[in-house]
Amino acid sequence: MTAVLAIDQGTSGTKALVVDDDEGTVAVAEETVRPTYLTGGGVEQDPYELLDSVLGAGRRALSAAGRPVAGVALANQGETVLAWDPATGRPLTPAIVWQDRRAETICRELADDAQDIARRTGLVLDPYFSAPKMAWLRRNLTRDGVVTTTDTWLVHHLTGEFVTDAATASRSLLLDLDTAAWDPELADLFGLGAERLPRIAACDEIVGTTRAFGRETPVAGLVVDQQAALVAEGCLEQGTAKCTYGTGAFLLANTGLNPVRSSAGLTTSVAWQAAGQTPYCVDGQVYTAASAVRWLQDLGLLHSASDLDRSAAADSEGVLCVPALAGLAAPWWDPEATASFTGMTLATRRGHLVLAVLQGIAAQVAELGARVAHDLGRPLTRLRADGGLTRSAALMQAQADIAQIPVDVYPHAHATALGAAALARCALDPTLGLKEAVGDWQPAAVHEPRWSKDRAEEFRARWAKAAAARVTEGAHS
Ligand code: G3P
Repeated sequence: MTAVLAIDQGTSGTKALVVDDDEGTVAVAEETVRPTYLTGGGVEQDPYELLDSVLGAGRRALSAAGRPVAGVALANQGETVLAWDPATGRPLTPAIVWQDRRAETICRELADDAQDIARRTGLVLDPYFSAPKMAWLRRNLTRDGVVTTTDTWLVHHLTGEFVTDAATASRSLLLDLDTAAWDPELADLFGLGAERLPRIAACDEIVGTTRAFGRETPVAGLVVDQQAALVAEGCLEQGTAKCTYGTGAFLLANTGLNPVRSSAGLTTSVAWQAAGQTPYCVDGQVYTAASAVRWLQDLGLLHSASDLDRSAAADSEGVLCVPALAGLAAPWWDPEATASFTGMTLATRRGHLVLAVLQGIAAQVAELGARVAHDLGRPLTRLRADGGLTRSAALMQAQADIAQIPVDVYPHAHATALGAAALARCALDPTLGLKEAVGDWQPAAVHEPRWSKDRAEEFRARWAKAAAARVTEGAHS
């Protein structure tokens, strides 16, 4: 009987699970973290709040489980960066969150190189990814210390090592996608040529040991959060896809061992690196999903996220929302796009606005699904779904209706941590295959499309027009 502690350090919170080989999840602890939203598109976090939440949630989960663990796994936000002093581990800046759009200036300056960057990295030149934010931080905040994604800083605190994993590195715009190695020319291009970059580890590698949770324990199973959920949901074969509805919503499809570049406006990254292989995935992003729901709460339009289904009207009565509250990602790629509600009348009520936001999220995901199908060369036949917002049956039904495919809701609230746990188990037992480590699952709910094909097409055409109206001149879609 072996157990691992799997920690998912996300944008809105940190979750820690103790996952036992035989019994499954035996303990869960969660801590909320609060990003600060600044005018001008800034989104920041206090690095110590992230570290304290990792240590706090991890220790509470362990104490609830009452058993030792053989390893500690860590999933991370992916593109959130900070500068820190490698001698002391002290942060030198706030964490600049993936949703932060202030590095748009850097991207604009590099516009002539956008195609070359996309060819090398599989990504689009957008402030969402790590390198523009690293360059912005260097120019505006400090030239001292090292600048890395949060995983490297957290793992340094746990183990003393200076490391990231191949999947997280592939979200940076600094990785050569074909070789999965840092590309010094790209680093030069972003003005980061003199930076010390972390060693890139495989996701099923033991990268060091930690005493942060009691006795000395190996740290293994480092992976970026979206890819961790892809693993947990068993999307291990080419053509399988999932969407995680968290702070943002992220649709990823496994494209196999070839780093095929998207020809549909999506991005390609490393899915994971394990058992000596590097599968890839295409992905599309909705920058604001749960954060759009939280925004509804902040405005007083919704009591709490658990009230979504009670508050949403049965029909939006013509109200449309493009919830681009932090710009638009694939396939529009417009960091300056803003959100809109249209179609309102004096008869419009709160419930119509709430449903319109849910339909707006679902319409974006449906558009991404169509783009994924283009890259895969065949339509998606089902969508696996996980993340906090899958608790909203109204959202999941809207997803099935608008995308016109059944949605299988993952039965566990913590797919990301479970994916990291599976990778850690492979690291601790190299005879264990990833498929075996993941195991089978049955959906907690299946939402079949109830709208007719015509109704879905009409809605998608109206919504696409509303989205196009949000795209600013000069966007690079
Ligand atoms: O790319 C950012 C994304 O992975 C963050 O995920 O769960 O914090 O919304 P989450």
